[in-house]
Amino acid sequence: MNILGIETSCDETAAAVVQDGCKVLSSIVYTQIPLHKPYGGVVPEIASRAHIEKINEVVTTAIKEANVKLDAIAVTYGPGLSPALIVGLNAAKGLAASLGIDLIAINHLEAHLHTPFLDTDLDPRNYEPMLGLVVSGGHTNWVDMPRYGEYHTIGQTLDDAAGEAFDKAAKLLALGYPGGPVIDKIAREWGRHDLIPFPKGRPREGVSALAGLSASLCVSFSGLKTALLRYVEKNGGAESLIAQAETPRIVASYQEAVIGALEDRTLEALKRRNYKALVVGGGVSLNSRLREVLGDMASCKKIPLLLAKPKYCGDNGAMIAALAYWRRNISGADAMKIDVAPSLEVG
Ligand code: KG4
Ligand code: ZN
Repeated sequence: MNILGIETSCDETAAAVVQDGCKVLSSIVYTQIPLHKPYGGVVPEIASRAHIEKINEVVTTAIKEANVKLDAIAVTYGPGLSPALIVGLNAAKGLAASLGIDLIAINHLEAHLHTPFLDTDLDPRNYEPMLGLVVSGGHTNWVDMPRYGEYHTIGQTLDDAAGEAFDKAAKLLALGYPGGPVIDKIAREWGRHDLIPFPKGRPREGVSALAGLSASLCVSFSGLKTALLRYVEKNGGAESLIAQAETPRIVASYQEAVIGALEDRTLEALKRRNYKALVVGGGVSLNSRLREVLGDMASCKKIPLLLAKPKYCGDNGAMIAALAYWRRNISGADAMKIDVAPSLEVG
């Protein structure tokens, strides 16, 4: 079965054709990062216009490269930026109607959790129950998956996502956008000596209770962000810190606090159940320190750590097409009527 997957939830216009839920026949990703760079973050109006400009080319190229007859079209309907999601959803509806094939609406976060299985012969059903971790620019969620396709959020961020915490710190330290890759590189070069003890992002029990979740499985990065802001202000501002070559130490300390928070909550989540695998997806899963920490944790627990290939960590159409094969939760006439769901949650 050949499924075309379309993804436009944020700042990547992406399309891919995937065969039988795992073999990626084509995957085209047009990234808008250069367009958003001057603003230090994604500007929804710019994202929407760029998706409109690129969607036809990206989808046509993915179909041409795969060179197979399509059986269905899958598309992200949420979560994400409303004006961006609309572009992909409308393109997918139009194409499905004109080709007379099924449309399948997919949850972007659940698709991130499928990425470790792309281009492999692993069957996700062999790893039940799994613990999923989505770490991206917009989300940080710990997800209990008792069976493949069944998702329960057991922990999450109560404010900024992990990627957002990196992007905002990089902006504050005048390191450019996106912040994750540059922070990862600088922190790796500095190492883990002489670190500033920034707060580790543990929320108060009362606050997490509002979200119906235990504080021990939630993170809050707003205190850490404020601590960084105060530190930068107290030490003369970003330019002065760069001039004094103080930035690498701050960056390494900040990354350690973010990764430490993710490590701590993941360890806590793994204690809750006899998980058979730890499955991780999203752009922040490219972080070298996070990969190291989670790898150590999984080997300690004697379970596999399933990470996506780097090309599937960020947003892409292949994860949308692949998940649609495994989980056709909204398809056919229902999918043709569906609207975008910018605040869609896991499960
Ligand atoms: O999954 P993604 O491509 O888009 C969303 O769905 O949000 O994730 C983008 C996020 C950005 O915040 C970016 O800074 C972060 O992933 N990121 C990283 C690294 N590479 C990308 N964060 C930490 N370390 C990295 N190496
Ligand atoms: Zn994403």
